[in-house]
Amino acid sequence: MIDQLSNNTILITGGAGFIGSNFIVYFLTKHPNIRVVNLDKLTYAGDINNLSELSNKPNYTFIEGDICDASLVSKLFHKHEIKGVINFAAESHVDNSINSPGQFIKTNIEGTFTLLEAARNYWKGENY
Ligand SMILES: NC(=O)c1ccc[n+]([C@@H]2O[C@H](COP(=O)([O-])OP(=O)(O)OC[C@H]3O[C@@H](n4cnc5c(N)ncnc54)[C@H](O)[C@@H]3O)[C@@H](O)[C@H]2O)c1
Repeated sequence: MIDQLSNNTILITGGAGFIGSNFIVYFLTKHPNIRVVNLDKLTYAGDINNLSELSNKPNYTFIEGDICDASLVSKLFHKHEIKGVINFAAESHVDNSINSPGQFIKTNIEGTFTLLEAARNYWKGENY
């Protein structure tokens, strides 16, 4: 399955966070023929320095933005001809979910829905 992605691009979201940043470094080491576009809003949880070792890699692109931004996400699918998505973008800290749950609903539910809709539309070829 992963071999079929060779010379293609996948969208990874939340790639400046804890799991995403470790995943991207590992993934690009294991799969140098796959391109990665990393979409991250750089909230308090995201740190671009987690990915500094990738800054010169030709198969890595960082985009600062929000997975809830349907227009941006759709443009990324078209521009980079995205063949797969791995979503790590999330509000993930439990204490914050108690104090300000709205942002959790926004990112974790609406944002995930936005990604799924963009993928469905792009892969069905509806928005060409
Ligand atoms: N850390 C763990 O131990 C663990 C375990 C199991 C599952 N998970 C899940 O894995 C996912 C990632 O976890 P993590 O620990 O890396 O989280 P994290 O909080 O460290 O990172 C989240 C990343 O998402 C980005 N982000 C937040 N809102 C965004 C938005 N609207 N648009 C784009 N980017 C946005 C942040 O800037 C950050 O870089 C979460 O769904 C989490 O629940 C984590």
